[in-house]
Amino acid sequence: KKKIIIAVDGFSSCGKSTFAREVAARIGYIFIDTGAMYRAVTLLGLRRGAIGPDGVDEKALTDLLSEADISFRFNPGRGASDIYLDGENVESRIRGIEVSNSVSRVSSIGAVREKLVHLQQQMGKQKGVVMDGRDIGTVVFPNAELKIFMTADPAIRAQRRYAELTGKGEQVTLEEVMQNLLERDHADQTRAISPLRKADDAIVLDNSFMTIGEELEWALELIGKLT
Ligand code: C5P
Repeated sequence: KKKIIIAVDGFSSCGKSTFAREVAARIGYIFIDTGAMYRAVTLLGLRRGAIGPDGVDEKALTDLLSEADISFRFNPGRGASDIYLDGENVESRIRGIEVSNSVSRVSSIGAVREKLVHLQQQMGKQKGVVMDGRDIGTVVFPNAELKIFMTADPAIRAQRRYAELTGKGEQVTLEEVMQNLLERDHADQTRAISPLRKADDAIVLDNSFMTIGEELEWALELIGKLT
């Protein structure tokens, strides 16, 4: 069977990662969550003082990043890869509201994007990957055989993310989650470098009223025609 690259882009909290992970599991592909990479860089900056109350020190963060090791390792318990920062599993550390509030600022920095895009291109070189993010179909793999652009109603997205965070015991309000999501969408769409936009040849998937089962059925049919 022919191996392809599947690019999944879209707004925050649309369930891109869940969708991409499940698709990858069904067809035996590698799943790569590129948002986790931007989040890991943000965590690094917060921990090492390159991100503080006054904002992001771009030079300091870029210097830290040049020494940092960001990688994925498969976690059989989760059936997906966890992200590692300098050998430490930071998968659960990167999902909190503190990282979420700074990540769009970090992802707007050209030097950060350059480094992470390069890593992502290396990871996808052999094809057989499902990669989710904001610029996969437009920048990382403009020649991906299948591009999916995900979207969902903002109120539904906020509700889903709120349930996920409070389920993990994080103290947040629905308003806070909604605000973070709208701010991130705005920042991601309006940044100068690689803004979030649908690639011309991407297919839109609005999952506001779809179950993950329905999303998978839809995707597997498309993939079947391409492989
Ligand atoms: O996908 P997730 O919500 O975890 O991504 C976190 C942030 O990382 C996004 O809001 C965006 O600013 C940035 N990002 C990006 N390009 C990607 C993936 C994520 O700029 N390919």
